[in-house]
Amino acid sequence: MPQHTPTQTAPATPPPSTSLTVFLETFGCQMNVLDSQLVQGQLRGLGYRFIDDWKQADVVLYNTCSVRERAEQKVWSRVGEVGVHKKTHPHVLLGVIGCMAERDGDNTVRKYPQVDLLCGPGELDKLPMLIDNAVRTSLEDRGGIHAAKIALQGDTHRRSATLAAAEDKLEMLDLSRSFSPDDHNGSAYVRITRGCNKFCTYCVVPKTRGAEVHRPPTHLIDECKRLVDSGVKEITLLGQTVNHYHYDNTQAVELNGHLQPQIGTIIGPNRGTGGPSPTFGTDVTSFASLLKKICDEVPDLLRLRFVTSFPRDFGDDILQVMADEPRICRYLHLPVQSGSDRMLKMMNRGYTVAQYMDLVDRVRAFMPDAELATDIICGFPTETEEDHLATADLLRRGRFKNSFIFKYSPRPGTSAYDRLKDDVTDTDKKRRNNELLAVQNEVSAQVHQAYVGKTISVFVESISARERKAIASASGARGVELGWEKSSEPGGSVGELVTQLVGRTGGDIIVIFDGDPALIGQIIDIKIRTASPLTLFGELIHSTATTS
Ligand code: SAH
Ligand code: SF4
Ligand code: F3S
Repeated sequence: MPQHTPTQTAPATPPPSTSLTVFLETFGCQMNVLDSQLVQGQLRGLGYRFIDDWKQADVVLYNTCSVRERAEQKVWSRVGEVGVHKKTHPHVLLGVIGCMAERDGDNTVRKYPQVDLLCGPGELDKLPMLIDNAVRTSLEDRGGIHAAKIALQGDTHRRSATLAAAEDKLEMLDLSRSFSPDDHNGSAYVRITRGCNKFCTYCVVPKTRGAEVHRPPTHLIDECKRLVDSGVKEITLLGQTVNHYHYDNTQAVELNGHLQPQIGTIIGPNRGTGGPSPTFGTDVTSFASLLKKICDEVPDLLRLRFVTSFPRDFGDDILQVMADEPRICRYLHLPVQSGSDRMLKMMNRGYTVAQYMDLVDRVRAFMPDAELATDIICGFPTETEEDHLATADLLRRGRFKNSFIFKYSPRPGTSAYDRLKDDVTDTDKKRRNNELLAVQNEVSAQVHQAYVGKTISVFVESISARERKAIASASGARGVELGWEKSSEPGGSVGELVTQLVGRTGGDIIVIFDGDPALIGQIIDIKIRTASPLTLFGELIHSTATTS
């Protein structure tokens, strides 16, 4: 597209926006990674070309996260840089999409007039139209907020309110995904639930992603089948609280030839016990039955995983399906947030430490080899040393393979932000964070050490980050051309078909070993030689695919 400044006259016919180059950077959780893939597929299908250098792009898109302030700060600094760049490249369009766009709304464009479009995660189906409109506007004289193109779900939660009457366009976006083998390395995400109904007091997600809706099981199975047909070996099901998945097949509504997602109801008589899954009518697909259906109907899928599990309403029915089906990974990401009942109550999590530990015990009774990971928030308002020590104790008892430990970050739009003073000092938050990390490091080291000497199945994901760096700094064109160049072992000779690879066990433990990059996307056996607190190091036994 021609360069122009706002003072030039716009050409009579704008150039087609679909010949533009796009740079897209993703922040935040797996849900955002999947959204970015869908956006990419959608825009590619319209002729946009994706490039890696933002300075060369006509359209710069940031798919953003709002969960903590730090996540947002990173994006603001990018937005600042693009603002400077736009002074000399005024045709460039800047879009902020995802959770930050939804949370901050048009404040963003008031503060940062260089932002040309805003699109919330619930409106991503409209993104091509927004880009197209923004391109047209950029050819005219534009200024500030009036020129910005905005699609936000807002407070109305339109989707949930009108779901039965209007076609769910986001479902169409999921259904339109590309199944090209170029789009994956043997592993893919499938969204089963959107949004969240939980309203944990600190959390912005229900605001940014809207109310919980569940996708029709037939769509999910079809998506899994098509991914496997395109070469995917491992699928991760996504939802904020995956175990709450349910779809009442007797109430299914079809519009324009597609079943519609269903609003998540809160849920049967077992609500709040922390024990069994909620009970449903006979023709309801529950999470346990969805897992079983996918295993039965997609026999060539080698690994099925899911995140995130909510520690309440996680019944033995799910654990039984996991124990019976070796292709379901024995791994649960089960965020606990705190080891203090008082904190859990203030966070509105809906379970006690005892109920959480009961679930951990049940998981291990069904699957002694299961690995668990958790999330912790330290320094939540009013948290005392005693609460903090209770969390450290829970980390020891839980024996998690790893924990994601976050300092509490007050988020505008949450009830904790409105009602609770952020009264734990940053110094205390930092100290508590470090103390919890130290406890977790000890536990992680023990968990990882127990694998030394064992042979385990590993899904090979990629070349290791260290190796990628080495390749990037290698001067010879040959290394770049081949994507690998040298053995990572001291003494390995240049040109050998080995490089350092990264893979994952069914329990989500990271394994590093040397091998041929052609193994990426396969499941192989690795004998573990040594362990660090968060990683295993091993060597290849043989490269035939196994099924666990
Ligand atoms: N749905 C998932 C979590 C999604 S957010 C669940 O409920 O388990 C991912 C993690 O970010 C949370 O588990 C929590 O530990 C952390 N988090 C969310 N809001 C936060 C906040 N305001 N401050 C600090 N950490 C937060
Ligand atoms: Fe946020 Fe709680 Fe929902 Fe998780 S369950 S996304 S922490 S509100
Ligand atoms: Fe962040 Fe939104 Fe995910 S706030 S954690 S990107 S759901």
